[in-house]
Amino acid sequence: MLPSHTPHTVYLSVQDIIRLVRHKGLPACIAGVAARIERDFLRWNEFDKSARVASHSPHGVIELMPIADAEHFAFKYVNGHPLNTRCGLPTVMAFGVLADVATGAPRLLSELTLTTAIRTAAMSAVAARALARPGSRVMALIGNGAQSEFQALAFRDLVGVRELRLFDTDPAASAKLVANLRGQGLVVHTCRSTAEAVRGADIVTTVTADKRNATILTPDMIEPGMHLNAVGGDCPGKTELHRGVLATAAVFVEFEPQSRIEGEIQQMPADFAVTELWQVLAGHRPGRSGAAQVTVFDSVGFALEDYSALCFMRDAAAELGIGDSIELVPQAADPKDLFGLLGEPRGDGKDGPLAADLRPALMAGENARA
Ligand SMILES: NC(=O)c1ccc[n+]([C@@H]2O[C@H](COP(=O)([O-])OP(=O)(O)OC[C@H]3O[C@@H](n4cnc5c(N)ncnc54)[C@H](O)[C@@H]3O)[C@@H](O)[C@H]2O)c1
Repeated sequence: MLPSHTPHTVYLSVQDIIRLVRHKGLPACIAGVAARIERDFLRWNEFDKSARVASHSPHGVIELMPIADAEHFAFKYVNGHPLNTRCGLPTVMAFGVLADVATGAPRLLSELTLTTAIRTAAMSAVAARALARPGSRVMALIGNGAQSEFQALAFRDLVGVRELRLFDTDPAASAKLVANLRGQGLVVHTCRSTAEAVRGADIVTTVTADKRNATILTPDMIEPGMHLNAVGGDCPGKTELHRGVLATAAVFVEFEPQSRIEGEIQQMPADFAVTELWQVLAGHRPGRSGAAQVTVFDSVGFALEDYSALCFMRDAAAELGIGDSIELVPQAADPKDLFGLLGEPRGDGKDGPLAADLRPALMAGENARA
C-alpha cells in the first residue's frame, strides 16, 4: 500500500535561497553541502546514475541531469552559454526538482544557479582535500567570473588556502573578485597572465567559460606536486587543459561515462586511465602517489552533487521556515477525475464532477458564455 500523500511541493525562489544563505552564512552552506556530497558519494552504488542529456547549439548547451536512490529522484536543468554575459545573462542558469520515488510526487522545486556555484565549489574542495598535497596554501584561480568567489571561499575554509593568484582575460572580472574577497582573510594578487598566476601555486583552479578546446594550462606551466582543479571544461569541444598536461598526471573524475564525453579526458584515448573520485573517498583506491605527482580533478558537474545540494537546501529551508508551498500538481478530490477539475470551483477547494450544463462552456472556451 502506498503512503497517502498530498501533492505538496515546496518552492525555493532565488530570494529564498539568498535569505537562507544569509541566515546560515555562506561558509556554513558550502561546508554543509560538501559534507552532504561526501556522504552521498560514499553511497555511490545506491544511486541509479546516467550521463546527462545535452542539447547543443552554436553558442551553448542545455542539459538535464537526473539521478535517483530508493527514496528520491532529482534532476537539474542547467545551461552553459559563455557569450551570455555580453547580453546581461549569466553563463550558467539552473533550477531543479526533488521528487518521491514511491509516488513520483514532486516535493521540492528550487532555484539552482546560486546553489550550483555553492555545490561546485564544495565539490572542488572535497576533491582537493582528497588529492592535493597536505599543506597546500597557494592557489591560482584562472577565470574570475560567477563561480570564482565560491571557489575561493571553499578552498579557504575546507582546504586551508591562504593566498590567491588571479587571472582573467577580462580585467574587470578580476577587479570584481578582488573587491568581493576584501576582508575575507585571503592574500590576493592579480596577475598579467595564466603563466604568471600559476607559477609556484600548490593548486590551480581553472574556471573559465569559452566554448572551444582552449588551452588554459600547457605542460610548461605545470610544476611537480600541483593539484589541478579543472572546472570550466564540461562539454564536448569545451576543454581547458592541453592534452599533454593530462598525459603525465593522475586524473580523477566524477562519473566516468559522463566525463569521457564532457571532461578534459574527451581529448584522450578511451582507455586512458582515470579513477572515479568516490573510490578514493571510500578508501578503495589511492589518491596521489607522492608529493611530486600532479593530480587533476577533471570536474564536469555530476547529478549526485545537485541531489546533495537540493537535499541540503530542502532541510535548511525547513529548519528556517523558508519557502512557499505551491500547487504544482492538480489536487482533485477524485484523482481519476482530472477532467472534473476544469469545472466551476465548488467553493470548498475540492472540485466535483463536471456538471453537464458546464460542458459546452468548457469545450467552446469562456467566450461561449458571453
Ligand atoms: N564543472 C562544474 O561542475 C561546473 C559548474 C558550474 C560552471 N562550470 C563551468 O565553469 C565555467 C565558469 O562559469 P562561470 O559561471 O564562472 O562563468 P562566467 O562567464 O561568469 O565566468 C567565466 C570567466 O572566464 C573568463 N575567461 C574566458 N576565457 C578565459 C581565458 N582564456 N583565460 C582566463 N579567463 C578566461 C571570462 O572572462 C569570465 O570572466 C563555465 O565554463 C561553466 O560552464 C562548471
